[in-house]
Amino acid sequence: MPDLGLIPRPVNVETLPGDRTLSPAFRIVPDGSGADLLPLCEYLRTRLETDTGRTLNIEKDAASITDGDIIKLTLNGDSGRFPNEGYYLSVDESGVRLEAAAVPGLFYAVQTLLQLIPPDKSRDESLSVPAVRIEDNPRFGWRGMHLDVSRHFFGTEYIKKYLDLLALHKLNVFHWHLTDDQGWRVEIKKYPRLTEIGGWRVEADGSRYGGFYTQNEIREIVNYAADRCITIVPEIDIPGHSGALLAAFPQYSCSQNDIEVENKWGVFEHVLCPGREETFAFLKDILTEIAGLFPGEYIHIGGDECVKTPWQKHDLCRKRLAAENLKDENELQSYFIRRAEKILNDLDRRLIGWDEILEGGLAERATVMSWRGVEGAVSAASAGHDAVLCPQSHCYFDHYQAESGEPKAIGGFTPYEKTYEFEPVPDDLTEPRARHILGAQGNVWTEYIADFDHVEYMALPRMCAFAETVWSPQNARNLNDFKQRLQRHYRRLDNMRVNYRRS
Ligand code: ACM
Repeated sequence: MPDLGLIPRPVNVETLPGDRTLSPAFRIVPDGSGADLLPLCEYLRTRLETDTGRTLNIEKDAASITDGDIIKLTLNGDSGRFPNEGYYLSVDESGVRLEAAAVPGLFYAVQTLLQLIPPDKSRDESLSVPAVRIEDNPRFGWRGMHLDVSRHFFGTEYIKKYLDLLALHKLNVFHWHLTDDQGWRVEIKKYPRLTEIGGWRVEADGSRYGGFYTQNEIREIVNYAADRCITIVPEIDIPGHSGALLAAFPQYSCSQNDIEVENKWGVFEHVLCPGREETFAFLKDILTEIAGLFPGEYIHIGGDECVKTPWQKHDLCRKRLAAENLKDENELQSYFIRRAEKILNDLDRRLIGWDEILEGGLAERATVMSWRGVEGAVSAASAGHDAVLCPQSHCYFDHYQAESGEPKAIGGFTPYEKTYEFEPVPDDLTEPRARHILGAQGNVWTEYIADFDHVEYMALPRMCAFAETVWSPQNARNLNDFKQRLQRHYRRLDNMRVNYRRS
């Protein structure tokens, strides 16, 4: 395949002789057959302006124009020809044409077009785009990146930049880890203490650290993501990792003892009490507001690393075990998750959780996020449940990227080359079970990542490598070829002022 420097690598690229120069006479022409393509055209115009300094006009009522100095975006409704987010892009003497069956496909065609423009042209240089025909569609429907904003907090401008990076790499899920022991980061109108108390911690040196997103800010981010064809999966981590919640509302733990928002990293006994019925009414209120803020199908309820010793010692939990005929604390955890699932299903949402939710029995329609390896995904899919892969071995971007000379990280060793080798469908899964693998994601936990520059350093270029594992055909992946393309891609990241790690 010709080296156009595209990341992720498209399914099929055919280069034609010559190129087209995007002169100022070029017009952007939406042809939406009824659908509103103006926001996408505006997006393209703005990106061209910021990337290249060239401003092109949008010509609204010109769908009948089929060639000339045009960048024409056509929605043609032919989903047979353009499966799941796929697109067609051609650049030739008749103009630049982008076609897809649905808006996401057109959005990815726009991303590819932007990547065809040389990254380091000077502003007055002519904008030449190679003549090509590209047919492309993603391998997986869940192409995610996660970000932990509890251990360290990143304001809305940073979240937008993160979303821009996802869009550049044709990623479509942002898993937003909003709560943990060290901070509760989402305003809940009914319970302002969650952020007033839970949003702030006292550091070892006595300073106060924290922050949170107001509901207006959340809505702004949700819209910003939607404009980039990104769905946000918010995570409210329960029943473990609930220290910030319990600092504000200790009545929902077993002991009901007062605790502080944690200022250390680790796994704590700060867990919600499944023996108290009030716990579930409280959760229902929170999840109802979360569902009102986030329109996506999935809500993530965590479920990881729940310490069960408080449950073992608590008479109400013992009573719950007996009343519900539960064998042990694993089944009590499963009971908790099923109650959460019922709340979410009543809100017309689906539950996803870390692979610990398999312990004690999986909730009816739950989707599993497999992080401790791939076994969680194999178990889930074998039982007919959907799964998303993010094994620590390849998808934890808080790990070290080199054997020495790196800023302090949580541990591990996961250079981008290793991420690139990641195969989202585990070996032991064959069809039709393999169809339960929705896709995969990269995770950025921020215990040792205090500012957004460092987030970028840890996320890239692993995000670039990861994007190819979830977008490109398995047999088209080639590490050396990727490394070549990455050189040009780095220049694009330079233009975006991204603090990626360069070896
Ligand atoms: C996790 O890394 N605790 C999901």
